Amino acid sequence: MTTPPSSPATEFSGQALAKRFFPGTGKSYDRVVRWTTLGLDKRWKKALLAKVPKDAKNVLELASGTGILSRMVLDHCPQARLVGVDLTDDYQQIAKGRFPDDAARVEWRLGDATKVDVSDRAPFDAVVSCYIPKYVNAVEMVDHLLPLVRPGGIVVLHDFARPHKGIQRWIWRRWFWVLDTFAPKLHPEWSNVFDHTLADLILRSEWIPEFRAAFHRPGWKDQGYETLSFKSAALVWATRA
Ligand SMILES: C[S@@+](CC[C@H](N)C(=O)[O-])C[C@H]1O[C@@H](n2cnc3c(N)ncnc32)[C@H](O)[C@@H]1O
Repeated sequence: MTTPPSSPATEFSGQALAKRFFPGTGKSYDRVVRWTTLGLDKRWKKALLAKVPKDAKNVLELASGTGILSRMVLDHCPQARLVGVDLTDDYQQIAKGRFPDDAARVEWRLGDATKVDVSDRAPFDAVVSCYIPKYVNAVEMVDHLLPLVRPGGIVVLHDFARPHKGIQRWIWRRWFWVLDTFAPKLHPEWSNVFDHTLADLILRSEWIPEFRAAFHRPGWKDQGYETLSFKSAALVWATRA
């Protein structure tokens, strides 16, 4: 099993973990994310979009995956064009097929969200992302975004969190036990994820304080964060000063 991180800033390679988790899982991703989150994924994405102004015209999505959030962004921001960046080709191929009527509004780039050059499409009114924070170094990603976001533009990030105590913590651990026991049987292509590796990653990730600290540096203002669904997920956001 891959050694999970105590912090993405240590020797942990989130990119290596993402490359271990995702190639070959694109076809079943939409179904798996729906049932493993008990449908909460859609609710979390709606909570993220509630922070994005509806009149945003130029949106960057990091870790755009199969395009679930991308579709919701285009519906939420009717004038928007979107650039989606992802590391995993089979996910991006599915995303490409998802927009038969809106092809002119979307553009896809394959690459690492903390490094990919999208300066030709900047400045962005909004940057959104679901599930990337635990795989990346917060400072590296926030520094990469700084020149790409227009003053007044917003960055909103979502990922899993971990309840710290009490009944929520107990339920969370039980639910991951169920996932690690049964998901690989139902979807063997996910056995590198549901072998405790994802649960350990979430348990050890410090993405919330790390991104909050990164956004408290010069260049950003109006930082905020919010936990969702009994602290099983969270949003962190900031506005470009
Ligand atoms: C759990 S999926 C989420 C997909 C999508 N954001 C969603 O909410 O449906 C995680 C995605 O993050 C991508 N990813 C992980 N690390 C990345 C990085 N450093 N740069 C770009 N994409 C990355 C993976 O390729 C994968 O598509």
